Amino acid sequence: MALLDRLGRPLRDLRISVTDRCNLRCTYCMPREVFGADYAFLPRAELLTFEEIERLARVFVEAGVRKLRVTGGEPLLRRDLPDLLERLVRLPGVEDVALTTNGVLLPRLAGALYQAGLRRVTVSLDALDPVVFGQMNGMGTAPEAVLAGIEAAAAAGLRVKVNTVVQRGVNDDQLEALWAHFRGRHVLRFIEFMDVGNHNGWDLSQVVPSAEVLTRLGGTFTPVAPTHRGEVASRYADAEGRELGLISSVTGAFCGSCSRVRLSAVGVVYTCLFASGGVDLRGPLRAGEDDAALLERVVSVWSARTDRYSEERAAGGERTGKVEMSHIGG
Ligand code: GTP
Ligand code: 5AD
Ligand code: SF4
Ligand code: SF4
Repeated sequence: MALLDRLGRPLRDLRISVTDRCNLRCTYCMPREVFGADYAFLPRAELLTFEEIERLARVFVEAGVRKLRVTGGEPLLRRDLPDLLERLVRLPGVEDVALTTNGVLLPRLAGALYQAGLRRVTVSLDALDPVVFGQMNGMGTAPEAVLAGIEAAAAAGLRVKVNTVVQRGVNDDQLEALWAHFRGRHVLRFIEFMDVGNHNGWDLSQVVPSAEVLTRLGGTFTPVAPTHRGEVASRYADAEGRELGLISSVTGAFCGSCSRVRLSAVGVVYTCLFASGGVDLRGPLRAGEDDAALLERVVSVWSARTDRYSEERAAGGERTGKVEMSHIGG
């Protein structure tokens, strides 16, 4: 019997954050003013070890998970990350392993990631204009640094998707150029700016609805069937069959089919991207609990789940005190 939550949703995806650190300071995720020089990041001993992550991943697979995604912060900052991927790709029952990264370290690591068995990555890139991108990433990092990462990944044999968070008045003048650059090469996905965390000053007026994105790109786009149930992006193809993805987390909440659970770098389980609290697994794990007992914890967390934040927000129910995106990795 499949494990279902209180709203009848199965558990399929586990997103694993391996660090809360990042080498960028995107204004919508880790604004410099908050994540400055004296920000206290997690000490290393607090982080789950690769052995611990692998063990918990096994338990989640036992509970129904088939898809794993490694995130951060910036996951490539975690030392020896390819070793973790090697452990995850060979877990029996796992059908798909992906990595979400800002791409800056890919020129150095893409080869090792492929060697470890990883076959796809998702790279975030919000603008091709150096001024716009430098401001958005809070570090003045040039788009070329990310483009080099994307090319390195592709050259190493990794399939690449590109994620662009769209913020009105900030980078919405970049959509056409990004589409022109990536179409037919890599799948590009535009994401509606979301009110994740507590520091990005989110306002509905800054969201460019996916419908508007399509109109702005002009041309004819036809919807393409999802690759799997609960897929976050709606897929489209242009007249030449080139794929575009739209992630409408604000104007088209997809909580109804949400099968995602998140594990923070310190081993806390969150059942929603917008959760304000989670359940600790590291404590019991380090206290010596066996897999069966850990599985029971996962089952009880998922069975009790009622989260549908994006739908509730759409109905007017905004929330404060949410977990930070850099803490649970999107
Ligand atoms: P694929 O497996 O390649 O389809 O990737 P994905 O879309 O599952 O993952 P990715 O990390 O690329 O996420 C894309 C965007 O969707 C990011 O901005 C995420 O924060 C957002 N997203 C992913 N899962 C959820 C979710 O459960 N709820 C909401 N509201 N947004 C999500
Ligand atoms: N709204 C939408 N997407 C976001 N991401 C980070 N913060 C936000 C936000 N406030 C994206 C990142 C990355 C993915 C994991 O989540 O750019 O592509
Ligand atoms: Fe770093 Fe990604 Fe957050 Fe940007 S969105 S600050 S790259 S974790
Ligand atoms: Fe899932 Fe929460 Fe996102 Fe809705 S808001 S899709 S419940 S993670």
